[in-house]
Amino acid sequence: MLQIDSLVVRYGGIQAVQGISLEVQEGELVALLGPNGAGKSSTLNACVGMVKPASGRVVFEGREIQGMAPEDVVRLGLVLTPEGRRILTGLTVRENLLLAGAIRKDRKAMLADLDRLLERFPILGERAGLAAGTLSGGEAQQLAIARSLMCAPRLLLLDEPTLGLAPKVVDQVFGIVEELRTEGITVLMVEQNAVRALEIADRAYVMRTGVIVGQGTSAELGDAEGLISSYLGAGS
Ligand SMILES: Nc1ncnc2c1ncn2[C@@H]1O[C@H](COP(=O)(O)OP(=O)(O)OP(=O)(O)O)[C@@H](O)[C@H]1O
Ligand SMILES: [Mg+2]
Repeated sequence: MLQIDSLVVRYGGIQAVQGISLEVQEGELVALLGPNGAGKSSTLNACVGMVKPASGRVVFEGREIQGMAPEDVVRLGLVLTPEGRRILTGLTVRENLLLAGAIRKDRKAMLADLDRLLERFPILGERAGLAAGTLSGGEAQQLAIARSLMCAPRLLLLDEPTLGLAPKVVDQVFGIVEELRTEGITVLMVEQNAVRALEIADRAYVMRTGVIVGQGTSAELGDAEGLISSYLGAGS
């Protein structure tokens, strides 16, 4: 479904992604792990047109999309929930969702999705008319994911969805991610919580300083503790 081929991302003299290749099959939940600065966000951002790759190919459902404008990528069904829960704090929860869905041409279906999401995430339903800036971290992450779902993704790229959240809320977010696949949404997830990510993912790639240094199923990668000490470094 998604194929990244020899992708290179540079920022001036820094080569953040040094020719990586990876793929995600339809229906999979794949984790992309690695320490800070490994190039994980750069990889996701390059897929959705937020960053222009220096070279390499990104193929989504048979179509080359590297360098395509972000709004065109979204319309193909490849949607990124970026790092840091970027929501519009001055707008209401409902306005946040409507604005995310505004990119779609099927307005009726979009509005139906809005109602469905406000039911599915009850806290968002309760707070629909309140400013998004009043939400807690976990609630804001639910809104960030719901915003992506408003774009009718077929493949969702999640960048560190649990960063900075309390343990109970982390569980909730992992629960939501697991639910997505039962709805037929394919997921590629960057996650600093390697142990938890490997529990729910079909496969994982491990990235370090711009290259892929390991890949496979949780079992193939060995126990998560070993993976962490050998690839990810202390504190991951
Ligand atoms: N906009 C930018 N301008 C310059 N350098 C950047 C930019 N974005 C990222 N970098 C650099 O590129 C490298 C990879 O960064 P990236 O954010 O992709 O890593 P990451 O794996 O997502 O890290 P983290 O786990 O901290 O989110 C880092 O050295 C980072 O400092
Ligand atoms: Mg990152």
